[in-house]
Amino acid sequence: MEERVQTSSAAQAAPAPRPKLELIREKSAEYLEVVSGGKRLEPADKDHIIQRTLENFDDYFNRGYLHYRKSVAEAEDFAAIEWTGQGSIIEDIKGRKFIDCLGGFGVYNMGIRHPKIVAAVEAQLQRMPLSSQELLDPLRGFLAELLGELTPGDLQECFFISNGTDAVEGALKLARLYTKKPGFISTTGGFHGKSMGSLSVMGRAVYRKPFQPLLSDVHFVDFGDAKDLERELKKMRDTGQDIAAVILEPVQGEAGAVVPPDDYLPRVRHLCDEYEVLLILDEVQTGMGRTGKAFACEHWNVVPDILCLGKALGGGVMPLSCFMSTPKIWKVLEDNPFLHSTTFGGNPLACAAGIAAIHVMLAEDLPAQAAAKGARLLKHLRALQALHPEILRVVRGKGLLIGLEFADRFIGYRVAAGLFKRGVLVAGTLLNARTLRIEPALNISDELLDQMLDRLADTLKAVERQLDRETREKMGKERSSG
Ligand SMILES: Cc1ncc(COP(=O)(O)O)c(C=O)c1O
Repeated sequence: MEERVQTSSAAQAAPAPRPKLELIREKSAEYLEVVSGGKRLEPADKDHIIQRTLENFDDYFNRGYLHYRKSVAEAEDFAAIEWTGQGSIIEDIKGRKFIDCLGGFGVYNMGIRHPKIVAAVEAQLQRMPLSSQELLDPLRGFLAELLGELTPGDLQECFFISNGTDAVEGALKLARLYTKKPGFISTTGGFHGKSMGSLSVMGRAVYRKPFQPLLSDVHFVDFGDAKDLERELKKMRDTGQDIAAVILEPVQGEAGAVVPPDDYLPRVRHLCDEYEVLLILDEVQTGMGRTGKAFACEHWNVVPDILCLGKALGGGVMPLSCFMSTPKIWKVLEDNPFLHSTTFGGNPLACAAGIAAIHVMLAEDLPAQAAAKGARLLKHLRALQALHPEILRVVRGKGLLIGLEFADRFIGYRVAAGLFKRGVLVAGTLLNARTLRIEPALNISDELLDQMLDRLADTLKAVERQLDRETREKMGKERSSG
């Protein structure tokens, strides 16, 4: 009895902590109110969201990420919290506007929130968001048909997933299944995703090494060098190592917009036929008009045996990717189509976005826009390079997949930060830290591109001045200490 009395008075003195789940429920209600737009945000609310976002990224989400974004980190402006976007303009929570020259790493070919794509997804959301898995979903059929008709040659069959890496996984599996051979040849500097299969054909040590051993039968040749591929194919044949497929990007994206010589892709196609190996083209980044054709392989009239698409396929509204092949090759999946399957791939929302994305690409002739704007941009960028050859070493690209290669990565970071401060969003590529990508929406206005060029000219001048000052200071110090 005594003890019970004591316990209850102790409880009165210090109330029992509230159950954790109740706190989480409250917090989720608070966040939901923000997400659902139910709450008008006052300046104090915005500051609170900024603070919470920074803390949450530091405490709960892939910790190092916060400091890794070079444009933001170098500019020491972590508080730029993405809030809304339309077309080629992104606005942060404080209402600061940025010209988007990054395109979400190549996702926003149609711009941010293209009205037709948003409307299609919203309408589908009101009917059926995800598939029942057993009834046939008409949207998946519609999109498959459009892609089958749109892609070159006899590419016709397809399978939908959500990420580029999944498209590559499917392509590798299909190549092995069809050829009954184990090996792959990929290219140095090639980027195909970061799951175990796609990572195995990634041509850059920094991402591969920590996870080795990967797929064992993968060999690498230099990108753009058809002779190197021929040597490798011959060596493989002479030593009895069976190759299922050659995989490469028609223009290497993450390596820094590397365009191969014009005869490269046709020669690769010819070699694949000669050595009886399949050709997988990874157009996850180059597809959907980015390089000035609907698919980059069309620049060289080359048709792959397997094609991977992703990124802009979902119209910048939904995640969507696919791998495609010919009816002849796809036959190997006919007996058991569940040899490869997925829960979310090709869901109705994603397919609604894909159908709208194809419509917008054709209705606005985005490939032609990319070709014309890309050519104009390259001309102006090369003129800027001629003014600053010491820091801006190379300007290259095709269509609106453009890379600016700097003397070193630190200069690249400074330029990204300088542009960020001037309201232009760019970023480095994942495989080449010295290269910044210019990858805007294909329907970006000429006026915005001109503004970007002005701000870049201004940034390059400022960075050059800063470097000169630093060099003079360093020389001064060396002289006085020597
Ligand atoms: C050519 C290429 N393939 C595959 C991928 C992987 O796509 P995801 O990041 O959607 O998995 C990328 C991503 O940048 C890519 O550029």
